[in-house]
Amino acid sequence: MTTALDAFAAALPKAELHLHIEGTLEPELMFALARRNSAKLRFASIEAIRAAYAFDGLQSFLDIYYEGAGVLRAEQDFSDLAWAYFTRVAPMGVRHAEIFFDPQTHTARGVPYEAVISGLTRACRRAEKELGVTSKLILCFLRHLDEESALATLREALPLGGIAGVGLDSSEKNRPPSLFQKVFGLARAAGLRAVAHAGEEGPPSYITEALDLLKVERIDHGVRCVEDPELVKRLAAEQTALTVCPLSNHKLRVFAALEDHNLRDLLSAGVLASVHSDDPAYFGGYVDANYRDTARALGLTKAELRTLARNSFLSSWLSGAEKDRHLAAIDRVAAS
Ligand code: ADE
Ligand code: ZN
Repeated sequence: MTTALDAFAAALPKAELHLHIEGTLEPELMFALARRNSAKLRFASIEAIRAAYAFDGLQSFLDIYYEGAGVLRAEQDFSDLAWAYFTRVAPMGVRHAEIFFDPQTHTARGVPYEAVISGLTRACRRAEKELGVTSKLILCFLRHLDEESALATLREALPLGGIAGVGLDSSEKNRPPSLFQKVFGLARAAGLRAVAHAGEEGPPSYITEALDLLKVERIDHGVRCVEDPELVKRLAAEQTALTVCPLSNHKLRVFAALEDHNLRDLLSAGVLASVHSDDPAYFGGYVDANYRDTARALGLTKAELRTLARNSFLSSWLSGAEKDRHLAAIDRVAAS
């Protein structure tokens, strides 16, 4: 049953800041692209793919996520993937998206970087024109690979442009941010902005490293910060954005139940947390479901949902004037 609070959450304008485009690959499109590209899939049906989405942690998810991404081969595939995402979330109130992509997953299979960036850029331009959804692209380095590979990726990406920033994702355990200082330094020197996944499965010290060594502006996930009360105070004092993904955290067993999620504690501590969807095709819901299910599980109020939507724009890389325009639209929904 849809409640008044569900409807309010759905109507709020939102910015999506933690979304891996490869994580929006729905089984239906995976099958269609496998057929189009004569790519082999070990799954016999869409149901079999969905049945395989039972994860016992980040690595078990990543194994299947990289396998699924193997059907993406040509520029058109990347464009179709991103366009499918935009058309799906525009009706959910997503007005702006800062989207991760993992080039090394594709270039390692012989897909040219240019096909990836061109396909994604084409869909982003179309989304702005036809749906009024603005976007930026964030190139993520895979942290299970070495820094040399990240450096080669950055060298290939810079001349083509089209990216607003860099990020760090993939297996976190035993892969501290300090391993990637050089590539982040070069990216920042080239005028790119920076974010990093930290404190998802890794310890709070990885959050501190990402801030102090990689000089990132936002922390993706960051939920393990609560294990270090001084760090929570710092995040609140510096208003460092945390892009939190509750359904992902539940599916990957960062929290045993959605009811156990610490989002409300983070908000109460004054942390600039917002809600996002990570890999929605794999975790059972896009940003609408993340707002709705988390609100239900934690008993969030209308005021807290409004704060989350506001935080999503405040944490974005939009200009001050663009932020003000979206915040005013949130106020209008809240007043109606
Ligand atoms: N790549 C895609 N989703 C991810 C996540 N939740 N954590 C780290 N890397 C990822
Ligand atoms: Zn993520």
